[in-house]
Amino acid sequence: MNLYHFAQNILESPHIEDKLRHPGKIDYSPLKENLSLKSAPERSDAYSFGKKDSKKLQLGELNSDRDRGLLLLMFMNHELVAIELMAHALIKFSNSVPEEFQRGLVQTLIDEQKHCRLYLNRLKELSCQAGDLPLSSFFWDCLSKVETPQAYLAGMSLTLEQANLDFTCYYKTLFTQAGDKKTADILKLVYEDEIRHVQFGVDWMNKWNKDSSFWDYYLRHLPTALDPSRAKSNKYFDMSGRLSAQMDEATILQFKLHNSSKGRSPNIWTFNPGAELESHKISPRKNNTIAEDDLCPLLISLCKKDDILLSNKKISLSTLERFYKLKFPLPENFDFQQIPQLLKKHKPGFIKAWGKSPVAEKKTTAITKLQSTSFKQTLWQEPWKNLYSKKFQAEIYRQLISENDFFDLKPASFFKTIESLLESNLSSDILLKAPLATTGRGCRRVSLKNLQNDDLNWINGNIKRQGGILAEAHRERLADFSAQYELLANGKLKFYGLTQIETQAFANTANICGPFHQHWSKELKKFVFANGGNCIKEGFDKVAQLWAKEMIEMDFSGPFALDGFIWKEFETLYFRPICELNPRITMGRIALELNRACQGSSISRLSIINKTESSLVSNTSQMNPQGKIKAADIILTPDAQQFFAHFKII
Ligand SMILES: [Fe+2]
Ligand SMILES: [Fe+2]
Repeated sequence: MNLYHFAQNILESPHIEDKLRHPGKIDYSPLKENLSLKSAPERSDAYSFGKKDSKKLQLGELNSDRDRGLLLLMFMNHELVAIELMAHALIKFSNSVPEEFQRGLVQTLIDEQKHCRLYLNRLKELSCQAGDLPLSSFFWDCLSKVETPQAYLAGMSLTLEQANLDFTCYYKTLFTQAGDKKTADILKLVYEDEIRHVQFGVDWMNKWNKDSSFWDYYLRHLPTALDPSRAKSNKYFDMSGRLSAQMDEATILQFKLHNSSKGRSPNIWTFNPGAELESHKISPRKNNTIAEDDLCPLLISLCKKDDILLSNKKISLSTLERFYKLKFPLPENFDFQQIPQLLKKHKPGFIKAWGKSPVAEKKTTAITKLQSTSFKQTLWQEPWKNLYSKKFQAEIYRQLISENDFFDLKPASFFKTIESLLESNLSSDILLKAPLATTGRGCRRVSLKNLQNDDLNWINGNIKRQGGILAEAHRERLADFSAQYELLANGKLKFYGLTQIETQAFANTANICGPFHQHWSKELKKFVFANGGNCIKEGFDKVAQLWAKEMIEMDFSGPFALDGFIWKEFETLYFRPICELNPRITMGRIALELNRACQGSSISRLSIINKTESSLVSNTSQMNPQGKIKAADIILTPDAQQFFAHFKII
């Protein structure tokens, strides 16, 4: 039989028997006539493509014959579409591929005929028949329009057929468990054939690709209607089949770690740790860009399935793999230069910046223009800069009245000049804070009676840059805490949890989550849990409610955190919940999200360490059968330059 008549017959005969007929010996000689291609293959009524709005099959647990038969009917349709698309490609690319390619494609097509027949016979035994379900035309619609053999391979062998490795493997196990060995055996046979079909694509793409990585070459040719996330199932990822198909490990990793929203408008996360300074138009510290790049991946812990992470540079595969191992849903990652591609592919959802700021707003203008009104939220209003200012915070704290002796609510004082500070009636041992200090940076303990030159320079520098300095009596701290909240757009205040903070020179260096009170002294437990309550939570809540009121008046909503500490004077303990307000996402919030992924009652610790310290981390993790983290001692940002995020279950 002539190759093209064989292919034409598959597309133009509506009868299933014609489509599944073995071609016998094929004559590969070129055609003299011109064959026309129709927009859709002929199919009899029972096999016709369902309308787009036809109801989707809700599959049961494969317990009944009927359930299993209906599933096989869907599989059968995939094989049939593959047969038709292969016939289509044989005709369409008759002049652009060598005979060796055609021979490989015919062999694949004959395999698909076998698969289709096996499924058809089996589903009949399971009391089903063609026509019992509307059949999807999705892959026909995507792949019948391809213009090059490379695009055909990218869509068919490397997407549709690659995904089939996962599906056949996964369902083979499920059918075996359901006691249906007959179907499991069919799936095993299909799986083994599909490995060769994927390899057909791998081999030819490698032959044609001269100058790119396999992944880039694949992406360049993949039809726009498809996304690489179609090349796998979301239930199971079959490594060994892909390796057998001669796919290289780096490419397999790309497929494994790639996700993309197929429907919903994805939320877009960005990391701007310089938000405080940005809010006051002060240029950020030198190492701000390094911190931005190094710690940006931590936002993955906040991303829901199908979200997008927008970063300065692409997140490395080894970083993504760390989160994948801990079972976090991976976001799709774009860098800022790729915003046009992002917008071509997705309708943007909410923009979730680390901190609201004029810079965050400016960098995402192109996105906000295309947001639908339900997702539009302004990222900057000038009065919000006050929220970041310790001076403003101290003014707000003046409204607080302590009904309990153990709450220390005395705000810091603000001084515009060094003279006024020296003339104040503060005790000599004081803590100074720059108005825009973040997480303890920009804090200094001094003795007013004995100011050193170094102190004076530091104070003058801050007064010059930030217009003044805050001062409060130094307090002997026993333990530091942070409370994570979110003021929702509807004005409701949501509490996420408490973390215990480790500090070094007033800077937060680690957040501990979970039942950390287990490690406390008796004295601390007695103080915090007196009267059956939790004075840390009560103190923070009191302050949070005050802030919520202020924020609502300012039309501000979003995440914020309060820092506070327990301190001791003359054997008496106090809780001071007004150490710091951060009107943004914080490392404490990230630490809580990481803890939520751990099995119940885990005490976990998130710290930022340097390269030397990071080299001592064992980088091991263990999951429990429920998919929760059971043990971890892991660097979450292995490709960082300077700031390494260390996550550990203690
Ligand atoms: Fe197949
Ligand atoms: Fe196949």
